[in-house]
Amino acid sequence: MDEPRAAAPDDLRPRLEAAFDFAAEQVRATTERTPDFFPTYTVGGRWKRGAELWTDWCGGFHAGMMWLIAERTGERRWYELAQHYSQLLEHRQHDRNVHDLGFIFLNTYRPWYGATGESRLNDVLVNAGRTLALRFNPKGRYLRSFVAPESLFIDIMMNVPIIFYAAREAGDPGLRAIAESHCRTTERTLVRPDGGTAHEGIFDLDTGEFVRQSTHQGLRADSDWSRGLAWSLYGFGTVYTYTQNPADLAVAERNADHFLARCPVGLIPPWDFDAPDGPHRIDDSSAAAIAASGLWDLSGLTADASRARRYRLASLIILDSLCSEQYLARGTPGWEGVLKHGVYHFHKQLGVDESVMWGDFFFLEAVAKVLGLRPCAGVPAGTSVL
Ligand code: GLY
Repeated sequence: MDEPRAAAPDDLRPRLEAAFDFAAEQVRATTERTPDFFPTYTVGGRWKRGAELWTDWCGGFHAGMMWLIAERTGERRWYELAQHYSQLLEHRQHDRNVHDLGFIFLNTYRPWYGATGESRLNDVLVNAGRTLALRFNPKGRYLRSFVAPESLFIDIMMNVPIIFYAAREAGDPGLRAIAESHCRTTERTLVRPDGGTAHEGIFDLDTGEFVRQSTHQGLRADSDWSRGLAWSLYGFGTVYTYTQNPADLAVAERNADHFLARCPVGLIPPWDFDAPDGPHRIDDSSAAAIAASGLWDLSGLTADASRARRYRLASLIILDSLCSEQYLARGTPGWEGVLKHGVYHFHKQLGVDESVMWGDFFFLEAVAKVLGLRPCAGVPAGTSVL
């Protein structure tokens, strides 16, 4: 395994703190400009109201940033804002139209429950896990994506943790079995031997047999859509914290090694690693931010010391790149997001080379972990790690 091709910057802490403050300022401005609005992507740097969503999956990221800011600042106004925006999402615990209930609730009701210990908040988390589990296809043994019953998405690996969480809190082995089956099916059908991933798997609904790999947001069925690979890396790592199953950790490590091997210097990937050189090989800063947060966790999960060093260094290198003027919007007047150069859906031309809500969230989450503000694998909150 090669070391990431750069040195960890030694002045990173003040730059991360400044980036955190900038992100808080951007979130504050958005809540004042457009109260009760949940952004998804910008157009020309401005959050687009009434934008085509493709699917409604991003509410937890905007509110989740408020929780991160509340935890850092300890300010009452941020706790109130975070609670208010989280409350606006509560009805989604019964939403059967999306596969994204982990994104929505683990980033909102879980920190809220952590802050207050109110059992009604945990009930919402358990309900959301139960609702997501209703997507289980018993023949194919996977949670179906929002697009069709025969479709499995790699993104669901980031959401399946809420089923593990609900299973644990409710003491429900049936829920846990569903979550475990989904992970094994995803590993078997979407994760390639080299650690790359396909975006989608298509199944035969009559027999439950896997038919083929496919994609919506990647370049091709057989390409490496970089965000999908980051979802898998982070998702399997998180699942491992619930299962302690070495198979889950091994997948996350394979994904991480493949991601890093395919990244350029600076570790910001193109939206698809197989996108040809030229004007359409656009960076996806959101894939980098997700990977930074997932790699940081993975460095605390892996049993291999050299891997741990490599993942930790890679996470810092990504954050260093994202704090540069090229990616951080601080030097771009009028820009409403935090990170520039994200990509939502290249083929639909939604949020291409723009800020995307999950990029901003996972960037802030990774910064919070590195600054010791959020607990993560092997590092309790309050521990300074830089
Ligand atoms: N829908 C998840 C993603 O765009 O990555």
